[in-house]
Amino acid sequence: MDRILIRGGNRLSGRLPISGAKNAALTLMPCALLTDEPLTLRNLPRLADVDGFGHLLNQLGASTAIEGTRPEDFGRVMTIRAGKLTSTEAPYDIVRKMRASILVLGPVLARAGEATVSLPGGCAIGNRPIDLHLKALEAIGAELEMAAGYVKAVAPGGRLSGGRYRFPVVSVGATENVVMAAVLARGSSVIENAAREPEIVDLCNCLVAMGARIAGIGTDTLEIEGVDRLHGATYAVMADRIEAGSYACAAAITGGSLELVGAHAGDMQATIDALRSAGVTVTDTKDGVLVEADGPLGPVDISTSPYPGFATDMQAQFMAMLCKATGTSVLTETIFENRYMHVPELARMGADVQVHGRTALVKGVDRLVGAPVMATDLRASMSLILAGLAAEGETSVSRVYHLDRGYERLEEKLSAVGADIERASDG
Ligand code: UD1
Repeated sequence: MDRILIRGGNRLSGRLPISGAKNAALTLMPCALLTDEPLTLRNLPRLADVDGFGHLLNQLGASTAIEGTRPEDFGRVMTIRAGKLTSTEAPYDIVRKMRASILVLGPVLARAGEATVSLPGGCAIGNRPIDLHLKALEAIGAELEMAAGYVKAVAPGGRLSGGRYRFPVVSVGATENVVMAAVLARGSSVIENAAREPEIVDLCNCLVAMGARIAGIGTDTLEIEGVDRLHGATYAVMADRIEAGSYACAAAITGGSLELVGAHAGDMQATIDALRSAGVTVTDTKDGVLVEADGPLGPVDISTSPYPGFATDMQAQFMAMLCKATGTSVLTETIFENRYMHVPELARMGADVQVHGRTALVKGVDRLVGAPVMATDLRASMSLILAGLAAEGETSVSRVYHLDRGYERLEEKLSAVGADIERASDG
């Protein structure tokens, strides 16, 4: 299995390209299931999760073709054509490996009048139930049946009615699923307390480009008027705000200066505010966002919350960065109940972090020391990479498949801006 080896201590500097957003890609790809015409997505990141999602679409009868980009280019163009769905089932084997597979439920149900999806089960950062996905779909007319670890959703008469649903808590995935289902409903739908993440805006904009009628995009109330059919479109995936935020932390923890080319400051304001509170200089440039850290980092007090709040997907990376701040920072995780799995690994590198329930006290230390470490999820793995960049000596991060799910060519991007980092294969 591969490992990433880092010899820490280098100050990073230069221009670093930001890829298309993983979480946007994973909700834009299933939109292709809503039409028999081709959907062409540009700026798709080259990631294991995107490949995995492509395979799932293939299983449902869609063809996926990657066009015209050279291997050395970042971003891909993929045309997905679901002329006819040959299956309406997302099997356990795929869903258990990739939770985002649940996002085919809404579109397959809307297009075919029925869909069967394996229940995803637990994952490294918590239970992550799908009850809200199901309740929202029920509210717009789906009938549900559970059997043998699967949920089957049926639209009576072959088409969803539309309806009104108010989410009791904000859910990104459930909002995506119900929006993708509602666009083809017979009537209109109102979704209240909807997630407002930029990836949801990207989804809605793509659906509108395909002929959907959605009002309130970017707010917490989405009004969707169902249409009889959608058509094909060409759409460019937004820049990855979490990847950009992660590399911003890399600049900060190494006392470096990185221009994140292609990043959109407007999508990552809470991250930028938190970086500024820690003493990092962040400026908008013509090509993206410039992050400069030339003095010591200061402590911050941050709580994760749904957008536009501070993203839970940035919590682990900030924790690594704050290990090098002067003073004690307070991080509170409000979205997932088990998202501090990186703490014991950071501790092995000399970090001083105490977890009390949902709150972590991060006491800055003078030095981090390289060590063999491994993580249980994607963002936790990135926090170890960041700690490794600032640590003395060599850090070896195993279970690289987590990173390959969400960071396009990580070691290539980081070594191009001065990191001493490489991938090693154990054969
Ligand atoms: C998405 C992102 C993930 C990010 C998360 C929160 C993708 C592929 N993944 O995950 O990277 O960390 O948003 O920003 O886009 N919940 C329920 N019932 C449900 C659904 C969710 O109780 O049916 C709970 C979850 O357990 C969690 C909270 O709601 O506590 C928010 O989860 P949600 O926004 O749904 O996260 P995902 O869509 O799974």
